Amino acid sequence: MHSSETESFDIAWVREQFPSLTLQYNRHASAFLDGPAGTQVPKQVMDAVQYYFLGANANTYGAFLTSRRNDEMILSARAAMADFFNCDANEVVFGQNMTTITFALARAIGRELKAGDEVVVTTLDHDANVAPWRALEEKGVVIRQVDIREEDCTLDLDDVKRKITAKTKLVAVGYASNMVGTINPIAEIAKLAHAAGALMFVDAVHYAPHGLICSESASTWRSSSRTKCARQRTLHRNAGKRERKYRS
Ligand SMILES: Cc1ncc(COP(=O)(O)O)c(C=O)c1O
Repeated sequence: MHSSETESFDIAWVREQFPSLTLQYNRHASAFLDGPAGTQVPKQVMDAVQYYFLGANANTYGAFLTSRRNDEMILSARAAMADFFNCDANEVVFGQNMTTITFALARAIGRELKAGDEVVVTTLDHDANVAPWRALEEKGVVIRQVDIREEDCTLDLDDVKRKITAKTKLVAVGYASNMVGTINPIAEIAKLAHAAGALMFVDAVHYAPHGLICSESASTWRSSSRTKCARQRTLHRNAGKRERKYRS
């Protein structure tokens, strides 16, 4: 970071937003280095959770105060995520975690696939973006796995081109690797997937807290996770365009 950037970045103020950073261990300030275990949670999120339990804990769509507040919270969370994903609010799906949502989506898309259809996954991806698609092998879907170039841990784009064929129905790829930090050329891969008539599923869990996720494409799903976004545990989300695929 350049010195001008550190000057304008009020680290003390940012630290104050995260109460867990005041934790002392053996009389020393704690440092949280285990990124994959999840980010620390800022006070604003804790306040929102408390607000919910104190004043909005009710069924949805009731005429009474707590129910109306609950509806408002859901709508505003949906709008915030739509802004984040650059999509419509009704295209946002919340769920338990990215892995669970991806399994659900794979099961749903799998209903439209037949034996011999192909799904492309990559060796660089987190298992959460491989196992759900591999589960479709049970019904005869062929999973083709793109290799990485070991010398620099990037995706082998020639292999991507080889693995995407006329039989490809979906390409599942990570935006950034949580293991080695590689940022994949998502737009380029999406172009290849869409040219073959395939859907694209992007695991943006690792990338989302760091960069803009912006896709205009009607056949791209993007996912992200609370674990990397300083959010409360149950808020995971997925966004995809409302569009019917495969059914004639
Ligand atoms: C790149 C990546 N994808 C997916 C996941 C799984 O996310 P979740 O814990 O929300 O299922 C993780 C978790 O660390 C991850 O780093």
